[in-house]
Amino acid sequence: MTPTRDELFALYALPDRSTRRVRMNFIESADGAVTLGGSSGALGGETDRAVMRVLRTMSDVVMVGAGTVRAEGYGGVRMDEPDAAWRRAHGLSEHPPLAIVSHRLDIEPEHPFFAEAVVRPFVVTHQDAPDDRRRALEEVAEVLVHGASRVDLALALDALAERGMTQVLCEGGPHLFGSLLGAGLVGELCVTIAPRIVGGVAGRIDRGAPEADRRFRLASSFVDDEGFVFLRYAVK
Ligand SMILES: NC(=O)c1ccc[n+]([C@@H]2O[C@H](COP(=O)([O-])OP(=O)(O)OC[C@H]3O[C@@H](n4cnc5c(N)ncnc54)[C@H](OP(=O)(O)O)[C@@H]3O)[C@@H](O)[C@H]2O)c1
Repeated sequence: MTPTRDELFALYALPDRSTRRVRMNFIESADGAVTLGGSSGALGGETDRAVMRVLRTMSDVVMVGAGTVRAEGYGGVRMDEPDAAWRRAHGLSEHPPLAIVSHRLDIEPEHPFFAEAVVRPFVVTHQDAPDDRRRALEEVAEVLVHGASRVDLALALDALAERGMTQVLCEGGPHLFGSLLGAGLVGELCVTIAPRIVGGVAGRIDRGAPEADRRFRLASSFVDDEGFVFLRYAVK
């Protein structure tokens, strides 16, 4: 049965906010496709969107890879009033900032990701990233530089935690998930299985992580009225 908003908050409640945590959120089809028609939106349903709002509401920062920003047209995260009220009641700022992870910094400062941001976003990159792009993005974001020739995600997460952002919601995409998995930085995976068989060539939710038997514990699960399955896995 489809949970109410309050039930969703209980299903995805964080055990504590002092333990640092990277929580991934993805949707995939029953045959493992991460996109339909080039984006994830077409895979989803009403409950999936409600879960996404709840996870964002609970987070200190929403992290996303540049490929997903380019593909999905991210334009800032704005909480509606009930969610902003939940955040105020829990001692959080009204809107969590976004953090984009990029190696090449191939994104314009005019992109809606920056232009529509409600709070100043973060850009996470490395020392060898192009200087001119970095300077341009410094006008619209706080740029965190970690790693010499590639992004050191562990250090970047340290930097966010130093700013009080211990609860990181990562909305993908697959390459960023692969990097975080490979570095052993993922604490939780929330995944929605859509009742669809997509076929085609769409990839999996993780790309690039070396093969390993990473065991997670099923922390909660439910099925909504439309047949979407919602799984919450936590590291053992
Ligand atoms: N089903 C879902 O829930 C879901 C969720 C998210 C995305 N998606 C889909 O996934 C597709 C995009 O896949 P993707 O794997 O390309 O997404 P991605 O991981 O968001 O994007 C890859 C790009 O992000 C940056 N990046 C990622 N990890 C990095 C790292 N460790 N260090 C430095 N930069 C890093 C790089 O950007 P630069 O090129 O700028 O250096 C890289 O080229 C889209 O079609 C999107 O719709 C689906």
